[in-house]
Amino acid sequence: MSSLHQRHLAVSPDWLALYYKRPLEITHGEGRHVWDADGRRYLDFFGGILTTMTAHALPEVTKAVAEQAGRIIHTSTLYLNRPMIELAERIATLSGIPDARVFFTTSGTEANDTALLLATAYRRSNQILAMRNSYHGRSFSAVSITGNNAWSPTSLSPLQTLYVHGGVRTRGPYAHLGDAEFIEACVADLEDLLGHTRTPAALIAEPIQGVGGFTSPPDGLYAAFRRVLDRHGVLWISDEVQTGWGRSGEHFWGWQAHGENGPPDILTFAKGIGNGMSIGGVVARAEVMNCLDANSISTFGGSPVTMAAGLANLSYLLEHDLQGNARRVGGLLIERLRAIGAGAEWVREVRGRGLMIGIELAKPGTDEAAPEAAAAVLEAAREGGLLIGKGGGHNTSVLRIAPPLSLTIPEAEEGAGILAEALRSLG
Ligand SMILES: Cc1ncc(COP(=O)(O)O)c(C=O)c1O
Repeated sequence: MSSLHQRHLAVSPDWLALYYKRPLEITHGEGRHVWDADGRRYLDFFGGILTTMTAHALPEVTKAVAEQAGRIIHTSTLYLNRPMIELAERIATLSGIPDARVFFTTSGTEANDTALLLATAYRRSNQILAMRNSYHGRSFSAVSITGNNAWSPTSLSPLQTLYVHGGVRTRGPYAHLGDAEFIEACVADLEDLLGHTRTPAALIAEPIQGVGGFTSPPDGLYAAFRRVLDRHGVLWISDEVQTGWGRSGEHFWGWQAHGENGPPDILTFAKGIGNGMSIGGVVARAEVMNCLDANSISTFGGSPVTMAAGLANLSYLLEHDLQGNARRVGGLLIERLRAIGAGAEWVREVRGRGLMIGIELAKPGTDEAAPEAAAAVLEAAREGGLLIGKGGGHNTSVLRIAPPLSLTIPEAEEGAGILAEALRSLG
C-alpha cells in the first residue's frame, strides 16, 4: 500500500506544492495547536495560510455550523437567507464604506474577480493598476494582476495590467529613500504611468502583501495614491484577504493605515472570516456594486452553513477583542523576533505588524535571497514543534508568521524560542 504522500503525488497536479520533505498530515486541532497523523502536537503559527483566525475547533463556530447543518445546508441566493443578510449587515457597517453593498463568494480569488468585474464594467476599461510583488488569487483574471512571477503561470490576460511601485519598502529602486521621499517617488511613478495610459479602471493593492512576504509601504502611501487616483476617476480596490479583521493589530482593515482620504471604493475579503469555512466577498458602495446590467450569482456564495460560521467567528473576534490581542501579543512577539534577528547573520529584516510578521533571510553579509535557508528553517521549526509559512517575491526567502489571533503570551514566547533555535541551526 503506498503512502498518502505517494498517493497525493500520483493524483494531484505537480504545481500543488506541499510543505516539508516529509509532508505533514494534520488530523485535528484545538486553540493554537494542531496534531499530525502520528499524534505529534505542533504550535500553529500559520493557521492554514492565515485562515484559522480565532482558534482551531472554536466551540462557538463548531456549534453554529452543526446547528445550521442540522436545519438546512443549502438553499441558494434565490431565497431569503437570514444568516447571509445578518453577516452582510455587520460587514457593511465594519467596512467603513458608505452605502455599502456586500456580495459573498466562496474564495478570495472569486472576490477579487468580482471586484475586477465591477471596476472594469463601472469604468468601461480593462486596464488595471496593480502593485509589483502582488498576489490576488489563482483564476485567469486574478493571475493577470499578479506581480510575482512564482505565482503567475501565464502572461495571457483578459486585462491590461500596469505595475506600480510601492508595495515593497526595502528592495527596488526607491529602497534607499526615507519614508516621505519613498512615497513621493512612488506617487511620481504613478502620475507618470497615468500620463501614458488610457483610462485605468482601478488600482488593486494588498495593504500588506501576503504571499509577497508581509511587505508594506510606509503608512500613508495609498492615501497619497488616492489623491492622484481621484483626480483621474480611477477606483481603489483594497484586497483585505490577509489583512482584514484586525490581524494587523493597530487597524481592523489594512487600508486604515492609509485612511486619511477615506475608505477604498471596493474592499475584498476571505480567509479568516470563516475560520476555515469557505467565505469570500466584496464590499462596494451601491453605485459601484449596482453597475452591472445583467444577473450574477455565486451558487455557493453566502451558503447558510458558512454564514453561520462567519457570524459566530466574527462575534467571538469582536467580543474577545482579538484585534487588541493581536496588537499586544504581536507587539511582544515582533520585539522578541527583532532581538533574535539582530543576532542571527542570515536574518535580513524582521517586519510586520500585529500577528502578521515576516522574517526575511539573505545570504550573510549580502542582500541575496536565501531560499534554501528559508526551507531549512521551516523544516527545523517543524522538528521543534512549530508550523510557520514561507513567502516573498525574492525566491521565497521570507518566513511568515501568522498565528490565530487568540495567541497567548506563553505561546508567543514558546514559538519565538523554537524559531531562535531553528535559525541557529543555519550555523
Ligand atoms: C491577498 C490575497 N488575495 C487573494 C487571495 C486568494 O484567495 P483564495 O486562495 O481564497 O482564492 C489570497 C490567497 O492567498 C491572498 O493572499
